[in-house]
Amino acid sequence: MRISTVRSFGAVAFVTAVLAPFTLAVPVTNTVLTPGGPHPRENVREVPAGGHIMHVGKDIHVVAATSTGWITYAWWTNTGAPISSYKTSWTVPPSPVTQSNQLVYLFNAIEPSVGTEIVQPVLQYGISPASGSELTWGVANWYLIDGQAFHSPLIPVNVGQQLDGEIQLIGTNGTTFNYNSSFTNIDGSSLIVMGANELVWATVTLEAYGVTQKSDYPAGSTVFSGINLELSDGTFPDITWSIADDDLDAVTTTVNVGGSTNGAIEIHYDA
Ligand SMILES: *[C@@H]1O[C@H](CO)[C@@H](O)[C@H](O)[C@H]1NC(C)=O
Ligand SMILES: *[C@@H]1O[C@H](CO)[C@@H](O)[C@H](O)[C@H]1NC(C)=O
Repeated sequence: MRISTVRSFGAVAFVTAVLAPFTLAVPVTNTVLTPGGPHPRENVREVPAGGHIMHVGKDIHVVAATSTGWITYAWWTNTGAPISSYKTSWTVPPSPVTQSNQLVYLFNAIEPSVGTEIVQPVLQYGISPASGSELTWGVANWYLIDGQAFHSPLIPVNVGQQLDGEIQLIGTNGTTFNYNSSFTNIDGSSLIVMGANELVWATVTLEAYGVTQKSDYPAGSTVFSGINLELSDGTFPDITWSIADDDLDAVTTTVNVGGSTNGAIEIHYDA
């Protein structure tokens, strides 16, 4: 349950979701008999197989089923003092040898326990809502909440370049939290989020769309190394990462070094 909630807010789920807002106040023009009695025909909507209904303020949205795209990831939930810093380094992988207009995302991220929000420094391959182009890699920081998405400008990066992604707690205000998501070794690549919920669910993730064959992924593997997760009381928690794999392909995640200091998690494209 928790995982499916989280996964529906992957970096581009909002774009592929078909949002069809409508209000309940439609003038009656012709009436049909529903199991709940007579209703205006306009107010009877089909929800596509696998889709769902979502209340958004006074509107009701019909959300079509989407491929959420979280292919494989490691995750852990913090129950201690708030996370003050969550960082890791990885290298821009070799470009995939085949092109299918695929969109590949690699990132670390944290979310609240309910999974309705995500803050993430993201490496992308291909064209995302933050722009980009086929055959190129780029980085942007993303904040997604309740079907809305915000990102810093996309910055191109090169194969082999080291990326230091960090989400930092930079302040609190009552029960809300301020975060800075950034690539600390790339100038101008940060996104500040003020007034967020406390983010407690940490992950490193491979997310992808439009992949049709193994060679649409990079070759080899990507290691998220130097994983450090510190709490606001200055402690480093005991972390045992859990793994989730989409069973549809052979891409997998392994925890090479667990814990919250200098950890390493590897995503294998060629498992
Ligand atoms: C703290 O939150 C209150 C209530 O939401 C808001 O009015 C105030 O501007 C916030 N202060 C800062 C420094 O963000
Ligand atoms: C956010 O992080 C970037 C990169 O580390 C840093 O340059 C910037 O000063 C930070 N901003 C704030 C408000 O903490």
